Amino acid sequence: MRVHNFSAGPAVLPEEVLAEIQRDLVDYKGYGLSVMEMSHRSAVYQGIIDDTIASVKEILNLSDDYEVIFLQGGASSQFYMIPLNFCADGQVANYVNTGTWAAKALKEAKNIGKKMHIAASSEDKDFTYIPKENILSENPAYLHITTNNTIRGTEYKTDLDLGEIPLIADMSSNIMSKPIDVKKYAMIYAGAQKNIGPAGAVLAIIRKDMVAKINPNLPTMMNYKTHIDKDSMFNTPPTFSIYVIGRVLNWIKQKGGLEAIEKMNIEKANYLYNILDSSNFYRGTVVPEDRSLMNIPFRLPTEDLEKKFIAETARKGMLNLKGHRSVGGCRASFYNSLPMESAQTLAEFMLEFEKKNS
Ligand SMILES: Cc1ncc(COP(=O)(O)O)c(C=O)c1O
Repeated sequence: MRVHNFSAGPAVLPEEVLAEIQRDLVDYKGYGLSVMEMSHRSAVYQGIIDDTIASVKEILNLSDDYEVIFLQGGASSQFYMIPLNFCADGQVANYVNTGTWAAKALKEAKNIGKKMHIAASSEDKDFTYIPKENILSENPAYLHITTNNTIRGTEYKTDLDLGEIPLIADMSSNIMSKPIDVKKYAMIYAGAQKNIGPAGAVLAIIRKDMVAKINPNLPTMMNYKTHIDKDSMFNTPPTFSIYVIGRVLNWIKQKGGLEAIEKMNIEKANYLYNILDSSNFYRGTVVPEDRSLMNIPFRLPTEDLEKKFIAETARKGMLNLKGHRSVGGCRASFYNSLPMESAQTLAEFMLEFEKKNS
């Protein structure tokens, strides 16, 4: 029996996709070997990665202005790769600080000796909102934002328009969760392990005009152009993760694409937000206009009740509802693949728990 998995990542995957992978695991489509055992240089594997990239382009409606690559090292490696590649001497790396992951990203720009500027921050209110105004430095190389803040549960509801200034977005925890206007972004990246697959691969989408700006004097593996020029095959890519991503993207297409996915995500999140809005027992921690469809943090009246809540939910097969260790409380992650039934089950339990404990 499968549990209700509210993990922030690695996270729930569609059961249909897991079953498909299982069917093909030992003998991939009659080729007599597993995808795990295939040379990344084989024609069969080339077909798999080509198909995955084609799905990224189709789902996000990407124009030919964008390159799509897969990388390793997690989203965290992009935190230093981005300033290394795109912040030239005399330029300033601009950041919006919306909490832990954003702060890690801006720290890396400083660590590698770049000039760094915080264009906006929500630290004044404990990262409970998305800043609405960005004040950029002179000579900005780019503005980096985190479109969904996994730990705090805030999310940008619109795509920023910076005109000529490159906008770079960490979409690790809301990639492919709703339609976006890709044209507004110079680069998008995401660790796969929340919304589009297992851990091990990073999806990066880079506008071609940015490639021309890349610092040519970088170690080969740290230069995005290396991976673009070799179609993600400069070295051995995370072959199995990319294959699974392809199957998850196919599932997204079968569900009707991002508009349909967003509709489902809104419906799921509303199970919880309706409770948070009407309860005197549970309390959401984010301002309503910026709250995430993906990660929903909430508090109970006391820490003891939170412990009891987490223990009781776990006993009933609802796992990973503990808030991030840096903020405490509870957090339910409602990624694309979380079944509607899991949201319903949690909501029903919450009402019952409130009745018994208030
Ligand atoms: C928004 C965001 N960015 C970056 C990361 C770090 O990703 P990785 O573990 O792939 O380096 C995470 C991980 O949870 C995240 O939520």
